[in-house]
Order: sequence, then structure tokens, then C-alpha cells
Amino acid sequence: MTEPDHPERKRRSLYGRRKGPKLSERQSGLRQTLLRDLAFTPNADPWAQFPNSVKELWLEVGFGAGEHLFALAEQCLAEQRSDVGLIGAEPYEMGVAKLLGKLSEKPLNNVRLFEGDGGEIIAGLPDASLSRFFLLFPDPWPKTRHHKRRFLQMEMLDQLARVLKPGAELRFATDDKSYLPYALERLCAHPKFQWMATGPGDWKTRPAGWPPTRYESKAIKGPPVYLAFRACDN
Ligand SMILES: C[S@@+](CC[C@H](N)C(=O)[O-])C[C@H]1O[C@@H](n2cnc3c(N)ncnc32)[C@H](O)[C@@H]1O
Repeated sequence: MTEPDHPERKRRSLYGRRKGPKLSERQSGLRQTLLRDLAFTPNADPWAQFPNSVKELWLEVGFGAGEHLFALAEQCLAEQRSDVGLIGAEPYEMGVAKLLGKLSEKPLNNVRLFEGDGGEIIAGLPDASLSRFFLLFPDPWPKTRHHKRRFLQMEMLDQLARVLKPGAELRFATDDKSYLPYALERLCAHPKFQWMATGPGDWKTRPAGWPPTRYESKAIKGPPVYLAFRACDN
């Protein structure tokens, strides 16, 4: 049970939209059927929510229309890694509907979805339970007075430090010039995270095995930057 007064479990606000264009009949139908089958429930045993015996949990927060999550799930199965369970969080109804559309055409049993705030999942995960965490092209909230709405806050990094296993990987990407120093400053200051880059090629080019996303292909604000951090054992 969530303790309402526990500082680590303090409820954060979810910024951004849930509703967009009206869903088609087929999309609404998939939300009633497929989303129920694939639903991830925060605060419940995460491993027990997959049909296979899962050894590693990977979480993507803000998957948009799910291109990256879907490609990773396919990649894991192609590499005989059915012991990886992928969890995706996205509050935007149309984004979830788009991913459900893809999953209805090609069912992948290693994916579970939560239509809501990724912070809720993180708050409910056991200590040292995640092997990978992805935050790709998060909403930039460029105005200084809105920076507090950004997903990557020091408090969130403390939460991630709790749930990531030693040796786990955190991947972050942005095309926003002000989110980049904001994220780097926080990640580099946090004792749990160690930047794995050895040279500019490591952040200017999307690493192999890191599927592209829809926002990345737009790269509206500038060239995308890719950051990979290792969670240390501390
Ligand atoms: C700019 S989009 C990027 C989507 C996708 N990652 C991509 O690169 O195409 C950011 C997404 O994060 C989602 N988002 C915002 N806050 C979130 C939160 N607290 N938990 C989960 N998703 C969130 C938004 O709904 C939006 O779809």
C-alpha cells in the first residue's frame, strides 16, 4: 500500500494531455480488450504480470506512439531474450491506442502497458528491480517557470536510484537545448549514476540496438543527443 505521507511516495502532478483526437471504433475496442489483457498495475508484483518467467524488467516512460518500445520488444524476442519484461507508461490515450494497433497486428507477450503517469509505476516498484530505464524525448517544458514540470527531477532520480539494480542502464534522449544541460547537471551530480560516454560519438549518434522514436525523426529543436548512464552499486 502507498503511504500517503511518505516523502518518497509523495504524489507528483502529471503534466501534459491525456485526451486528443477522438479514437476510432477499432481503437476504442482495443482499449476495452487488448489494453485490459496487457495492463500493468503499479504497486503489484511486477514480475508476476508477465506470462513468461521474467528475470529482467525494463521500463519506458512516455513511449508516445510506442515505436521504440515495440521495436525493443521485437528485438528481445528475436535475440531469444524472452526473460525480459518490458513495461511502458504513457498517459496520452491516442499514443496508447497507436501502440495497441501495432500489438493487435503483431502480438508480443513481453510487453505490459500503463495508461498513466510513469512516476506512479516507479514509486510502486520494489528496490533494485529494474534493469533498464528509458526516457526518450520527454516533454521539454522550455520556459524556466515550467522546468519543475520536467519528468527528470532530482527527486525522480532518487526514486530511480532506488529501483534500478546496480549495473542497470538509464537512457535519456532529447533534442531540446535547455533540457540537455538540465538533465546532465542532475544526472552527473547524482552519486548513483555514471555517464558511460567516452567521446562525442557516444552522444551524437544513436547507439546500436537503440531503436528510433517518432519525435526523434522530427528533431524539431536541434540534433538529438543520446545519454546512457550506468547505475552504480552504492
Ligand atoms: C515529446 S513526447 C515523446 C514521445 C516518445 N518518447 C518519442 O520520442 O516519440 C513525450 C511523451 O511523454 C508523455 N509523458 C509526459 N509525462 C509523462 C509521465 N509523467 N508519464 C508517462 N508519460 C509521460 C507525453 O504524453 C508524451 O507522449
